[in-house]
Amino acid sequence: MIIDKQECQELKLLMERKAIYPGSFDPITNGHVDIIQRGKKIFDKIVVAVLDNPKKTPVFSIEERVKMIEKTFEGDPAIEVTDFDGLLVDFAIKNNIQVVIRGLRAISDFEYEFQMALMNRKLSPEVETLFMMPSLKYSFLSSNLVKEVFQLGGCVKDLVPPPVEEALREKFNF
Ligand code: PNS
Repeated sequence: MIIDKQECQELKLLMERKAIYPGSFDPITNGHVDIIQRGKKIFDKIVVAVLDNPKKTPVFSIEERVKMIEKTFEGDPAIEVTDFDGLLVDFAIKNNIQVVIRGLRAISDFEYEFQMALMNRKLSPEVETLFMMPSLKYSFLSSNLVKEVFQLGGCVKDLVPPPVEEALREKFNF
């Protein structure tokens, strides 16, 4: 059977190994970026899925969080950025993705992540959670700490991608 260029492209898209990297990303940090880069070694496409949670009041709106991530990965065809609401497993199934990546920084992350992974497995056994560890230099980093340090005048240059530093300046008028 001979297939044309268009069919070849469609086949390639069908065969793409995809993973979801979900989170609040309020804002994305270099620790998140590190995990995404590691994920790219295993998957053809990483779908960065930003949770739009009406119960939480994030510092950055869902649009601002998505935009910061898009700017960070501008020109990288392996990264797709989108928002989602509702159950993560529903989003995964709707998008035909079987793997969820989560970063584990320290033992303190483990209990919450373990609980979440097992609940997701209970809800949808076909969705697997893959834990990845960031570089040690980011193991202390969190979005909350970044916001606190920035608001108190600390330097976050090495902790967040440039579009986030810019957005922090705009948000807090620094
Ligand atoms: O960056 P975060 O806040 O640690 O990410 C948590 C996130 C978004 C992955 C988690 O809260 C989530 O998946 N929320 C969607 C709702 C859901 O599926 N809840 C059940 C998970 S056990």
